[in-house]
Amino acid sequence: MRTQIGIVGAGPAGLMLSHLLHLQGIESVVLEKHSRRYVEERVRAGVLDQGTVDLMLTTGVGRRMKELGLVHYGIELRFLNSGHRIDFKDLTGGLGITIYAQQEVVKDLTNARLAAGGQVFFEVGDVSLHDLDSQRPKIRYGGDGDASELQCDFIAGCDGSHGICRSSIPNGVLTIFERDYPFGWLGILAEAPPSSDELIYAYHERGFALLSMRSPTLSRLYLQCRRDEDINEWSDDKIWTELQRRLAAKKRTLVEGPIIQKGVTGMRSFVAEPMQYGRLFLAGDSAHIVPPTGAKGLNLAVADVRVLSAALGDFYASGDSDLLNKYSEVCLRRVWKAQRFSWWMTSMLHRFDDNGTYDRRRQLAELDYVTSSRAAATTLAENYVGLPIDPICVEHERKYQERSPR
Ligand code: FAD
Ligand code: DHB
Repeated sequence: MRTQIGIVGAGPAGLMLSHLLHLQGIESVVLEKHSRRYVEERVRAGVLDQGTVDLMLTTGVGRRMKELGLVHYGIELRFLNSGHRIDFKDLTGGLGITIYAQQEVVKDLTNARLAAGGQVFFEVGDVSLHDLDSQRPKIRYGGDGDASELQCDFIAGCDGSHGICRSSIPNGVLTIFERDYPFGWLGILAEAPPSSDELIYAYHERGFALLSMRSPTLSRLYLQCRRDEDINEWSDDKIWTELQRRLAAKKRTLVEGPIIQKGVTGMRSFVAEPMQYGRLFLAGDSAHIVPPTGAKGLNLAVADVRVLSAALGDFYASGDSDLLNKYSEVCLRRVWKAQRFSWWMTSMLHRFDDNGTYDRRRQLAELDYVTSSRAAATTLAENYVGLPIDPICVEHERKYQERSPR
């Protein structure tokens, strides 16, 4: 089999890339190791920043998001039992975020690809990459006498943090930058109306807590926990008691309800540089991971593939490899700003094991500053709603729209 772009992974990065390429008339094949059902039911991110929302809308995959997504123009930071609103609309000139589950984004993109005759193959095992430094890289998959080969012009490694693409790059090519955190998040999905109209990020002496939501009847909440926390030690009662404590405010309690999903997530900062080797381009979690406190992971994955599709679009339209050669550099500028922001939100809001008096006082001063200085609040707001898309990418999209108005 032959295609222009072989894409490994049908998460947000792989599917969005395939969609953006299709809009430019470029063919791709997506290979995903899990079943369609598994990928569409995996509970993960919930916050889409302004760039992701705009891209979904302008490329024709935003109809359900517009109908079902919850648009928010602020968040609350809660500490010392009182809440402080960061007003995104006011601070960023009208921008906001949309609460819309990652698995819904994945469903919308999968449906769009399949409706357009796109090739997305699920439950594909034994994927391996070959000849990455040649003009004809290949993907082999499906072992045990049933092996197939996909010949490509380029390969996009969109297979997440535990995929095989990054590790197919020879030793010594990549430089890895990373940081571990001494805690994790215990996340739940509960059949209970959200106890607040907006997200609440709570700093508490017992540890961080986050109130989020999925719909007017579904709450999504997180608690800082040990990184090796055993979820079986957390009964529903224990989870609600801890959430009530950490998210407490004067005369206000959380509305509780049956917990329908729970799990523990580790926290990590990670960047692999460069995000390219030969004709393999890494995008999304396969190249970088952020701790979830800044809600940036999915949004960064989408921003990467926006650059990659523009670069591939230029290549096929005019033979120009300039943007492809700059892919890693352009993406990493945004990636490192998201790293900084996610690290900063994490270190401001969590309890660290060595939280001596000095660190606690410093965190409280930081929170006091962010919620009382317009300049400080603006830096939080503009990062949370998403920094502007790189001008190189905007320029390509403008040129492309002029060539083929949709
Ligand atoms: P993935 O979604 O991981 O997709 C990779 C795909 O590749 C998967 O479907 C996988 O099955 C497949 N794959 C892996 N290996 C292979 C292989 N060998 N062969 C074929 N296929 C393979 N981000 C936000 O922006 N906002 C948030 O609010 C947010 N909250 C989060 C909350 C939690 C609890 C967690 C865990 C994450 C959160 N994130 C958030 C991060 C976000 O979920 C990820 O950054 C996002 O999924 C990255 O997308 P991706 O397409 O790069 O990778
Ligand atoms: C959600 C996840 C996050 O990581 C975050 O910072 C905010 C909200 C969520 O799942 O809703």
